[in-house]
Amino acid sequence: MVLIAPSILSADFADLKNEILRLEEAGADMIHIDVMDGNFVPNLTFGPMLIKALRPYTKLPFDVHLMITEPSKKIDWFVEAGADIITIHAEAEQHLDKTLENIRNAGCKVGVSLNPSTSEDTIRYVIDKVDEILVMTVNPGFGGQTFIASQLEKISRIKQMIGNRKILIEVDGGINPLTGAEAVAAGADILVAGTSIFSGGDYARNIAALR
Ligand code: DX5
Ligand code: ZN
Repeated sequence: MVLIAPSILSADFADLKNEILRLEEAGADMIHIDVMDGNFVPNLTFGPMLIKALRPYTKLPFDVHLMITEPSKKIDWFVEAGADIITIHAEAEQHLDKTLENIRNAGCKVGVSLNPSTSEDTIRYVIDKVDEILVMTVNPGFGGQTFIASQLEKISRIKQMIGNRKILIEVDGGINPLTGAEAVAAGADILVAGTSIFSGGDYARNIAALR
């Protein structure tokens, strides 16, 4: 069964605590938190203090997507804030193998993400160090962008690379019931969605539509 990870990038920032309670009630499987540093991506969002403040209000896993340069220097911040899964970008880290290992040793699940222009070959030799591979289906930085269809082939290739390992494929960007179904057909296990879950305000209905 496909897992649904709402991205709070599209939530009401002035009411984040209640937004998370509403997402849990609506059947979300995890909460996707987009951390942007204004450097790796041209936008700034949340830091570890906000994640820590939200942590007591839900038992849902916090799926923390770090869109930051040199994430190795800041992994501890997000571990201490209560992240369950920490995903870093292959493009943002010089010593990817080592940093993935550090996330694992800190007790979190490990994710690696690829921008649309990055080949799946980049992660061939670190695949045994991850629990999740996050395929960006838009260029990271903003919600509400259009799904990039060329990534479907990448999803299928990663699915083949995974073989019988227990690694999940997550897709992020421009996911709606239509593109979500295409991504799942190509091999995706987790759908991240902001716009399509928050639009209209009926989160349960929107989550069910994605599933
Ligand atoms: C984009 C973020 C996404 C974003 C997706 O950089 O990583 O998680 O919230 O938003 P939608 O679903 O609106 O494309
Ligand atoms: Zn994301």
